[in-house]
Amino acid sequence: MKTAEKPVRRRRRLPRIFLNFHFWLLVLLFTGGFLLQYPQLIPFIDILDPDSFLSLTRHSFGRLIMLLPVTYAALVFGMRVGLLALLVAVAIIVPNIFIGEVTSYPDEIIEVVGIIIIGLVVNLWLESYETDKKHRQVAYLRLENAQRELQRMQQNLRFYLKQITIAQEEERRRIAQELHDETAQDLIAISRKIDGFMSLHPALASSDEAYLEDMHQHVNRTLSGVRRFSQDLRPSVLDDLGLIPAIDWLVPELAKHYKLKIGLQVNGEQRRFAPEVELVLFRIVQESLRNIGKHAMASRAVVTVDFTPEITVVTIRDNGRGFHPPDRIGDLAVSGKLGLTGMQERAQLIGARLAIKSNPGEGTTVTVEVPTTTEQPEHSY
Ligand SMILES: Nc1ncnc2c1ncn2[C@@H]1O[C@H](COP(=O)(O)OP(=O)(O)O)[C@@H](O)[C@H]1O
Ligand SMILES: [Mg+2]
Repeated sequence: MKTAEKPVRRRRRLPRIFLNFHFWLLVLLFTGGFLLQYPQLIPFIDILDPDSFLSLTRHSFGRLIMLLPVTYAALVFGMRVGLLALLVAVAIIVPNIFIGEVTSYPDEIIEVVGIIIIGLVVNLWLESYETDKKHRQVAYLRLENAQRELQRMQQNLRFYLKQITIAQEEERRRIAQELHDETAQDLIAISRKIDGFMSLHPALASSDEAYLEDMHQHVNRTLSGVRRFSQDLRPSVLDDLGLIPAIDWLVPELAKHYKLKIGLQVNGEQRRFAPEVELVLFRIVQESLRNIGKHAMASRAVVTVDFTPEITVVTIRDNGRGFHPPDRIGDLAVSGKLGLTGMQERAQLIGARLAIKSNPGEGTTVTVEVPTTTEQPEHSY
């Protein structure tokens, strides 16, 4: 069933210009200027102003006043309306030269031409100022857009790095666990079986016994290697006992590996952090000590942990050859050097501040500061 369509009532709208405040102000200014030009239309103005106004003849003042709406129109509506206003102003001024009390034509014509020139100059100047302003605004907007785009890219990159770091730690934990729970247990079982076989057969030929003994030692060496590798991937002492025991375990390991003297100094009352915070601090110490072993050519390194009620500061210092750290550590990643970048990313993950101070010939100091009331990060490793 068709419903009868209601006739749409069209409300008459006033043209928008009549609702514009500036338009009415212009009308007012023009009317004022017009009345000053043609005072004979107002009966009593001669009483107020017999001949002159502000040392100008009333006509000259009236003409100058016309520049007011012209400038205002150009300022508010732009050059086109400004020129239109100038036309209106000229249309009001010019007839007055030929009617009423004309004193001298040339002077009056010069005055009108002067006003036209000033009106044109004002219009052109305002237009060029507006164009400049628009150009500046466009340039500023472009700059802002570029900055926003750059910021978005940096955020994406940071998010990506964070996800990679989390995934890497998760993968290390999984492999370490697998090595510890499966591979190491299997090697222990093989070692015990060889042991058991040798105890059950005491009268083996000496060559067979030597062979089995060699195999036993080989399995045990492989077991130690697997354990070391598993600890290196994710030291269980860190999860079980915390940061300081883990660093205590790490220091002699690396000292032996890099043939380097490494000291550990702990000040203040020890405390435990959230597991992810302890892992990040441990990784920073581990990478810093590895860097000392690989690059510093140092004879000595010291790890210091200062616990205070507000902040915990971990410092890794060496007396090696030092280097020029780049202004932005992240720049190193471009050349495939991910250690320091990774340290910085990890520090940011837990709300810690990392600083690397180094100069050629003056050694290197890596400092990481963690507020004691560290917020729980969104992710745990
Ligand atoms: N303790 C240090 N002493 C001297 N140079 C260092 C030290 N730590 C880092 N560096 C320099 O900074 C660079 C970047 O280190 P890193 O990001 O860990 O990358 P990588 O260890 O893979 O080279 C190193 O290649 C080295 O030149
Ligand atoms: Mg490194």
